[in-house]
Amino acid sequence: MDSVLKIGMVGLGDIAQVAYLENLHNPAGGIEVAGLCDIQPERLEWASSQVPSARATDDLEDLLEDSGINWIFVLTPLLAHAPLIRRSLEAGKNVYTEKPISVDFNEAADLVELSRRKNLYLASAPVMLLYPVYEYVRSLVLSGAIGDVKAARVMASHGGPDSFPTATDLGWLMREEKATAIPPLPDMGIYGFSWLAHVFGPAERVSAIATIAKPERTFDKVTAPGFRPYTMNVKVKDNCIVSIEFAGGVLASVTANFVAGGHLPERFEMYGSEGTIMMPYKGPYVKIQSNLPPHNEPAGLHELDISDRDGGRAFQGVNWGPIVAAHLQRAVAMGAEPLIGRYFSLHIIEIISAAMESARTGATRELETVFEHDKAWGI
Ligand SMILES: NC(=O)c1ccc[n+]([C@@H]2O[C@H](COP(=O)([O-])OP(=O)(O)OC[C@H]3O[C@@H](n4cnc5c(N)ncnc54)[C@H](O)[C@@H]3O)[C@@H](O)[C@H]2O)c1
Repeated sequence: MDSVLKIGMVGLGDIAQVAYLENLHNPAGGIEVAGLCDIQPERLEWASSQVPSARATDDLEDLLEDSGINWIFVLTPLLAHAPLIRRSLEAGKNVYTEKPISVDFNEAADLVELSRRKNLYLASAPVMLLYPVYEYVRSLVLSGAIGDVKAARVMASHGGPDSFPTATDLGWLMREEKATAIPPLPDMGIYGFSWLAHVFGPAERVSAIATIAKPERTFDKVTAPGFRPYTMNVKVKDNCIVSIEFAGGVLASVTANFVAGGHLPERFEMYGSEGTIMMPYKGPYVKIQSNLPPHNEPAGLHELDISDRDGGRAFQGVNWGPIVAAHLQRAVAMGAEPLIGRYFSLHIIEIISAAMESARTGATRELETVFEHDKAWGI
């Protein structure tokens, strides 16, 4: 398979702007943005101004017919991913999608099977586990730097799509038909589920509870020209907590909500018999406290030196398009399953759908899927 990525990008909204288009087009590095697609003319126009050489269209079929495109990047709203992924795979294109492939486990499993049958790649965000610092922290946990880890806690939340300025109107994120009955689960919880499964392996049991915390939201921070502020009555649940059991009795909780508007609400904490490691999602530091050398000095909670691990730019949690493209390129060159590949993603979707069901019924769910990272990555 050609390890030059010739990308057709569908969905040119907020995330295309903040995380993908700025630095992705890099023909000398074998990464080309060859096609752009959005149903909104002004979004298409904006993206075309970023990569004028790319073919621009409002119909994905135009990109699928183009033999010069070998990957489709799906960056549309949550529940619009699956039909676009299916069409792209049917047309013989490899697919990378923003999170998640689908929230419907059976639909996601079908797409995974379709990609396998057609010998195509199917990979999905979130991508933070590709950052060098995350790999470093994972290796610390697994090598016993804080002893035997049996507990973890993730705060995977923000204040909601109305709480910060965005280039586009993200009100769809508060509507069930666009983003499920508990939108923080696929939107934010997925970061916690992905990190925990990456560290501790496949989850075994899941339970969850969810509430509506903020029944009315006003959208008045959208920067798109001509945007008119509006207020929405919210029917979806915006406040959720998920309990997960991993092999060996490791227990983790993931708080996924749209009501944590404070500083650094996204946080990963691992608790071991000899200490603690914590890191925020978007912030270039990791803190550790350990009774074991070498991290027992200095005593108490202190920052680790991560300057030689790309602790700056690559750890800031934005502009991840070039990072994911480079990973996919390496996967193709090695003939390996990406770390964010189909079986890993399917397992994460099973956690999300189990949490949704548990929040609805009150029952704990046993999980069925497993995954194993490709040994080619050497981790
Ligand atoms: N905005 C963020 O901060 C953020 C962060 C991480 C991940 N994401 C993920 O990125 C994805 C997109 O989110 P966003 O915030 O960019 O949304 P958005 O609404 O800003 O952009 C989505 C774009 O997709 C286009 N679109 C929808 N259906 C289409 C179709 N059938 N064909 C072509 N274009 C279509 C829309 O016109 C819009 O321009 C979601 O999966 C979201 O979970 C967003």
